[in-house]
Parts: sequence; C-alpha cells; structure tokens
Amino acid sequence: MGGLLGYGPLVALTSLRRKISVSAALGLLLVPGCHSAEQALPYAEAVRTSPDDMVGLRARTVTVATDHSVVSYRYPMLGGAHPLTVETRTRMAQRQTAFLEEIPDRGTPELHQDVTILAASPDVVGARLTVTTSAGMGETFEAGTLWYDSQSGEVLPWTSLFRDEEAIQRAHLALAEMLEEGYNIPTQQLPGLVGDVAQGGGGTYGATAGAEVPDDDTPSDGPIDEGDEKSEGPDLTDPERAHAAAERWAGSPLEDTAFSTAGGLAVRMDPEEVPAAGRVDEVLVPVESEDTEGLLSELGYQAREAALSGNNADDALPLGEELSAQGHTLDCVRLKCVALTFDDGPGEHTDTLLDILETYDAQATFYVLGSLVNEFPDPVRRMAEEGHELGNHTWKHDDLAQMSGTEIRKDIKRTNEAVRELTGFSPPTIRPPYGSLDGTVRRSVDQPFVLWDVDTLDWQSRDSDAVSEHTLTHTVPGSVVLFHDIHETSVQAIPAVLAGLHRQGYHFVTVTDVFGAPGLEPGDVYTDARVS
Ligand code: NI
Repeated sequence: MGGLLGYGPLVALTSLRRKISVSAALGLLLVPGCHSAEQALPYAEAVRTSPDDMVGLRARTVTVATDHSVVSYRYPMLGGAHPLTVETRTRMAQRQTAFLEEIPDRGTPELHQDVTILAASPDVVGARLTVTTSAGMGETFEAGTLWYDSQSGEVLPWTSLFRDEEAIQRAHLALAEMLEEGYNIPTQQLPGLVGDVAQGGGGTYGATAGAEVPDDDTPSDGPIDEGDEKSEGPDLTDPERAHAAAERWAGSPLEDTAFSTAGGLAVRMDPEEVPAAGRVDEVLVPVESEDTEGLLSELGYQAREAALSGNNADDALPLGEELSAQGHTLDCVRLKCVALTFDDGPGEHTDTLLDILETYDAQATFYVLGSLVNEFPDPVRRMAEEGHELGNHTWKHDDLAQMSGTEIRKDIKRTNEAVRELTGFSPPTIRPPYGSLDGTVRRSVDQPFVLWDVDTLDWQSRDSDAVSEHTLTHTVPGSVVLFHDIHETSVQAIPAVLAGLHRQGYHFVTVTDVFGAPGLEPGDVYTDARVS
C-alpha cells in the first residue's frame, strides 16, 4: 500500500497555519501575576452542557447497588422512542452487561456511565458518553460521542462532523502541530494515531487503529471508498460512510471531541499523553477555529453553531413524540433482555412487587383483569407512572375460546377502557386466560397476543425458592416469563429473580420492548423474542 491514507504527499498537508494563539498564550507568561506556566499553555474550554441545565430536556439516572457491584447510568430523555435516547441507553446497557459478565469475585466493582450534551439545536444533538469503572485500586475511563442528525433521523459517530477522511486527517495534523508547538512534544513522541499521521503514517496506521484495513484488492487509495469522487460524494453525514470511517479511525483522540468556546475543537487527551499540561483528569487540547475551516461537514457546522450559542435551543430541540411511560427505549435485538410478566392482578401484593422492581430499575408487564383494575387503582396508576406496561387479561378471566366473536370484542374492549381510564394508555397486547385462543379469538380483536416461554408454575408450587430457581435456570435473552402477582409467594420470589438475572447482565424490559421494532402484529401470537 502506498501512503497512509492515499492522498499523496503528506508534506503538502503539513503547511497548516501556525498557531497565533500559541505565541499569544506564551505571552501570558510575561504578564505580572500570572505565575503558573500551566495557565499559559494552550488549553481549550469545551462546551459540555449537563442535561440538567437544559430547558426542555430531561435526563434519567438509574442506579443499582448490590453486594457484588454498583452500576449507574444517566441518559437523556428526548421523547418516547427518540433515536438518540434509544442509542444512548442501549449502548450503556450493553456496557453494563459486559461489565457484569466479567465482574471479578472480590471487592465491589463499580460502573458509572454518564452523558453530557455537546450540541443541541433543531438540526443536531450531540451527546458525550462517559464510562468510569473502578475495582480495587484500578480505575478506567472511556468516552465517546454520538451525533443525532435530524435531517436523516440517524445517530452517527464522531466522524460525521467532518467533510471526509482527508478532513479527519487534517484535523489530526492540526492536533499534532498544537501538541508539538504548544506542549513541546517531539513529533516522534506524539501518541497513537496523531503520531502516525504526523509522521506520514505509512504502515503503522492499520496496526494502531486495530480496524480493518481495506483489502489489497480494493483500489490502493486506502480508506476512501469512492476514491476518485472523494470531494464530490456525500460528506460523512452519510451513515454508512461515517460508521466505516469511525471503524478505520478507532482509537483517535477525536472520538472524544467537543466544540470549544472559541469555536474550534476541544480534544480530550489523557494526562500521561500530554505530561507538560500538568493536568490530572484530562487535557483539552485546542484545534483552533481557523484550522477547522473547510474540514467540517454540514452537520459539523450545525453542531458548532449550536454549541457556540450555548445549546440554548430550549423548545426548539428535535424532540421525538411526546414522552410516554410506554415507549420503545432499548434496542433488545442488541441486548440481553427479559420480559417479566405478572398475570391475574392487580392484587394486595402488587404494591410490594412494584417496590421490589424499583430497586433494580426493572420494568415489567402486568396482564391485569379489567374487573380488578378499579379495586386497586393506586398500584395500576403507579405501574404506568413507573414505566411498566399494562396488558389485557380479559375482564374476569373467562376462556376466550369458549366465547362468541361479539362477546370476545366486548370483553376485550371493556378491559382496555378500564385500563385507559386510569392510566391514559390502552393495553398494547392481550394475554388470553389459560393461554387459550383459537381462530375466532384471533380474528375478533386488533391487538397482538403474548404468551410466554418460561412458565414458573408459581400458582401451583406456591414456593418462592422453586419459582426463582426455575426462572434463573430457564431464562434466555428474549424470554417472556410468567408469574402471578396475586400470590404472595410469587412476589417473594422476585428479589432473588432480579438479583440473579441482574448479576448475569440481563435488562428487565416490557413486553413491547423485548419484541422491539418493528413490533407485534394484531391477531398474531407470540411466546418470546429469543434471537435464534
Ligand atoms: Ni391468568
């Protein structure tokens, strides 16, 4: 392969403008009273806005503490099934599963995931995701960014901020130059990809990036797919190109870039990579505004504008549909999800069950009887308020297969309405009593039918240990587990169920979430959402 990225001689690219700010900053050393050299080094101020400080944006924090671990995450709630909410939450859930699956035996390791907003306007929302783990003495930190482009409705990686990969390369060179001149790091000692690019790259790029380098039989113009049309083609807001570029530039410090208050970039680097900065937590290396001219994509300029206006978009944020308790918020195709379902209630133990579910941030689905809904209105309202899903289990547990079409419709409708009156939501799915249904039942209603793949037989055994044991040994990703919250022994089984499955990295979701998009078809019958 020829040059690193196939743009011809890198020499031509190294003639970037010198930093005015470097000399300006160095000048600060002479200002009386400015006695710290640290203050004189070029340093960027990143625009990172806490979601709590943004009008019109809500964030939700989830913490689950057990004897073996503490996990927490905070994600922005942009509306029912907003792509950025789903993507952020799903990534955090994936990370949590990985963490729990490889948890060490000793100590109480912790995983904390957080989000800050880098840009927010009707056009774009940028989010920075951070991951901190600690176990014993060791602590790790990772960060990355996601960019929601309202034009395509897609959530894109950091590369989408740039026009093309040549622009990404130039940004690395500008960063290299800043590190060399502002922090006196010799070119040979520049870290990672920045060093590779600054030194002309050849050969080391693929190894450092760990990403797939294009096959030798592809045209020898490296990472650019449409080599000849690289400046004509769509910019990196094209999702496929953005993702491919992100894979090729994996490990770049630009993965954790914010816009700076000066209109350039604030690139986070590890303190050990930039020792001269004398920082402990992070070093925010500036790429000056003028050095980003021409490098950004349309999305990149929109994001910069939003950041520079202070992310004060308030009600102009590209919020999704009205935030509802029932909405698709996790992509269970990519996750270890389980749907716990509780039939025949509500009852006198339901409130206790809701308390237990809360400690694990577990969402469940309650197949309620219409005739009981108004007997226990408070737990029913609470279910909806706390993000659980209500399903239709008929009015009084009659066998639907023994009823006429008219009777079935009347029963289902009456139950739907009872639930909607209390919660504002009509049950999205039906569970027929005894799992009994036939063609008439299926044709008579316009909701999907949801059965189960894990039957705890809790109504029969009335044995909490047996119920939790059965659940822990039979649940697989995508399972729908059947319990009955009218039995105290069933409710008493749930702490062990939640503890065991959480320990295995499961996420407790509603029936709607476990089946996910494209969702369930009216009249069809589902037992589980197992992947295979
Ligand atoms: Ni039942």
